[in-house]
Amino acid sequence: MLLHVPQVLHAQAVRDMRAALDAADWVDGRATAGAQGAGVKHNQQLAADSPLARTLGRQVLQALARSSLFRAAALPQRFVPPLFNRYQGGGRYGMHVDGAVQVLPDGENLRTDLSCTLFLTDPQDYDGGELVVADTYGTHEVKLPAGDLILYPSTSLHRVEPVTRGARVSCFFWLQSMVRDDGQRSMLLELDQALQKLRARHGDSEEILALTALYHNLLRAWALT
Ligand code: NI
Repeated sequence: MLLHVPQVLHAQAVRDMRAALDAADWVDGRATAGAQGAGVKHNQQLAADSPLARTLGRQVLQALARSSLFRAAALPQRFVPPLFNRYQGGGRYGMHVDGAVQVLPDGENLRTDLSCTLFLTDPQDYDGGELVVADTYGTHEVKLPAGDLILYPSTSLHRVEPVTRGARVSCFFWLQSMVRDDGQRSMLLELDQALQKLRARHGDSEEILALTALYHNLLRAWALT
């Protein structure tokens, strides 16, 4: 499932975050790439352990906790602390797959089920820089307004096209979901969204209660917590 979550951050929050990021120290992005990724990765990042990355990363996770669409789609269990990257002057990231397991700051392992990119630059401010995600239905180009987020399965091959004008600044991170299987997670989201629409249209009813119980019982059957 490739899912667009609009307005995770409002305009002022994006501007504040950008002001801090534009004044920050950036390092070569290859520091966090695996052997295959390092060969094709040409961008800059904030050091993962920098106080600024930690502070802004917490703000991003707090904003996501307020998004019911994100929570219903991702069913998050644990997150890798968010990182920040910048592409400019032809910077790009060739086709790659993200590592299946990431080590958290506390030394625990996290299985990457979902990858997230939160755009922090408006599309009119740079050329290129599309996130291209390949799945079984072909490839999808993603370039979203600042403050919007894209969620996609970490199993997908993906790339970032060269940025030929301006700078593309984003926040990116991975999460382990309570529901490991992408198909099961997608069905739960469809059921959740349909139920919300039914409830808004007809109010509560015996049938909606029965379907809500079914949602929770499926989640109970599939969740690994
Ligand atoms: Ni990647």
